[in-house]
This record gives sequence, C-alpha cells and structure tokens, in this order.
Amino acid sequence: MGLLDKVRQFEFSKICDPRGNLSFIEGGCHVPFAIKRVFYIYDVPGGETRGGHAHYENTTVLIALSGSFDLHLTDGKEEIIIPMNRSNKGVLIPPGVWDSMHNFTTGTVCLALCSHHYEEEDYIRDFEEYQEYVKSLKA
Ligand code: TYD
Repeated sequence: MGLLDKVRQFEFSKICDPRGNLSFIEGGCHVPFAIKRVFYIYDVPGGETRGGHAHYENTTVLIALSGSFDLHLTDGKEEIIIPMNRSNKGVLIPPGVWDSMHNFTTGTVCLALCSHHYEEEDYIRDFEEYQEYVKSLKA
C-alpha cells in the first residue's frame, strides 16, 4: 500500500436548514483520531501557496470551510490534486505525504484538524530531505 493510498476523503453530515446549514465532526468518530489541535488559514493573498511539508507522525484533516483551493498531495513521485470547494468535505493527509495548497479564492477559510500538538521537529520542510525519507521507508 503506497502512501497516497492512505489519503482519505470524507463527506461530513450536513444538516440542511432554512436558517443555514450545519456540519459536525467528532474526534475518534468522524475522523479516525482524537483531535489534539486545530488551526485555520485565512486572508490568503491571491497567488500564494500554503503548506509545503510532510509530517513524521501527525495526521491532518483539511476542510475548506468557505471558498476553495486545490490540495496537491504527493509521495515524491505521483501527485494527486483534490479540489477543496465544499464546507462538509474533509481530506485526511496521513503522515509521510507531502501537501501543498494552491489557487485560493478570495475569502477562503481552511480548517485543519490534527492528531498531534504542534512540534516543529515533526515537520519535513525540505523536499529533497522528504524524498530521502520516503526512500528510507521503502528500504
Ligand atoms: P506552517 O506550517 O508553515 O503553515 P502552513 O503549513 O499552513 O502553510 O506554519 C506557519 C507558522 O506558524 C510557523 O512558524 C509555525 C507556526 N505554527 C504554530 O506555531 N502552530 C501550529 O499549529 C501551526 C500549524 C503553525
């Protein structure tokens, strides 16, 4: 099973209501980990890219709460591009997958649910180093 095979897409429940829609996410239930950390990305200037890293341990679920962007995921060789454009769609990025976020529309808010607290040592931010790491996994 390759790293990209571990990427999962979720459609969270959507309670449609004339007063406005509602979705909910429970850790360990709708995402397969206890949520230890939440962060969100917003006010992204046109043309900017976010992400550009992989994790050793942390799992992330990304959701475009409003607006849209393209999520690029790679294992160093193959790339998949997932359009993020629905408030109840989540994509799980497993440890070892390199992610980057592109083509943000104005006003996009991206929510990230994480399995681990923030630890800079858990990040691989250099793509060459990442490629070496992926090779070491296969060896
Ligand atoms: P970074 O991981 O580069 O952002 P992104 O992947 O979303 O583009 O993080 C930007 C800065 O914010 C960096 O200095 C680390 C800090 N940061 C925290 O302190 N805690 C966090 O939970 C996150 C995600 C980032």
